[in-house]
Amino acid sequence: MNKLLRALSGEKSISPPIWLMRQAGRYLPEYRALREKAGSFLDLCFNPEWAAEVTLQPIRRFDFDAAIIFADILLIPYALGQDLTFATGEGPKLGALPKPGQEQPDRLDPVYEALRRVRSSLPPDKALIGFCGAPWTVACYMIEGSGGEFARARRFARDERGGFLELLDRLAIASADYLCRQIEAGADAVQIFDSWSGLVASEDFVDFVIAPTRKISAEVKRHFPQVPIIGFPRGAGENCPAYARQTGVDGLGLDQTITLDHAAALQNILPVQGNLAPELLVQGGLPMRQAVTAILQRLSGQPFIFNLGHGIVPQTPIEHVTELVRLVRDWSD
Ligand code: CP3
Repeated sequence: MNKLLRALSGEKSISPPIWLMRQAGRYLPEYRALREKAGSFLDLCFNPEWAAEVTLQPIRRFDFDAAIIFADILLIPYALGQDLTFATGEGPKLGALPKPGQEQPDRLDPVYEALRRVRSSLPPDKALIGFCGAPWTVACYMIEGSGGEFARARRFARDERGGFLELLDRLAIASADYLCRQIEAGADAVQIFDSWSGLVASEDFVDFVIAPTRKISAEVKRHFPQVPIIGFPRGAGENCPAYARQTGVDGLGLDQTITLDHAAALQNILPVQGNLAPELLVQGGLPMRQAVTAILQRLSGQPFIFNLGHGIVPQTPIEHVTELVRLVRDWSD
């Protein structure tokens, strides 16, 4: 079995598996070349041949233990009928909230085709990860219409709670279906990205984060009980133990604000993944090596997946990624 799947099933290994969130992207010249040829980010996502190629690029270069399908968490709003564009350098722009009846689920078909292509050319010792955004994070973009601090979305959640909970529920149903289809197309594991769970007040954490995530994992497990789910509640801090115990996920992604003491305690609940600060991968050198060693020393004795605490950033030097993979591979203390 693949190293990533072994870690998620609770196996300890001295040299842990490694992959990086957003490992396909602008820090790679081969990505930038294909991105330019495609013209727009969405045209790249929706061309199965190109999306498969971009998914495989970081595997060829760095020998990571897992590929993550090249797509975006905002494809679900698009499949629900919401207009979506990515203006270069400005991030996503979304149209008016879609109403029930406007769904266009076949918009996601190219993602499944890309998964089939990747799985057929990926070596069996590499895992293929499917993903979706968590309902809270996706709802924030849908209501706000863009990224940012989500002032409008957070006000909507407070002032129109009933309507907001309904939206979370719709998203949980659509996301579970999306993940199941990704698994049918070849995903070996799936990750739920809750990039903005840190914005949720603690009294709302169960309703806005835990319950919708649990709904997705329960539905995925009903169809595919053997496929592991990684939950990534970025910024969840003190809510991490409740998230780990109550959502039904099999692995817990940790951001770089989680101390290694806290991470080691969470490892008593679930296998953990993380949590090198992306800025340290940009900086490289001794500060990076020291942080990597500290993480490996503290977490590699229990089920662990090496990753960043958030996505890799475009200014990351490629040599630092090569060195990071070597440090993790060579680890045996
Ligand atoms: O990890 C991978 O390599 C797979 C592909 C992937 C992308 N987005 C490609 C992408 C994944 C897993 C995501 C997840 C995603 N998308 C998240 C959750 C993770 C996180 O970073 O918090 C979020 C919040 C989004 C929404 C999104 N997509 C934003 C806000 C932006 C614009 C900002 C940015 O980083 O460019 C995107 C665009 C995007 N998604 C790019 C890539 C490679 C850059 C687009 C380009 O090439 O022009």
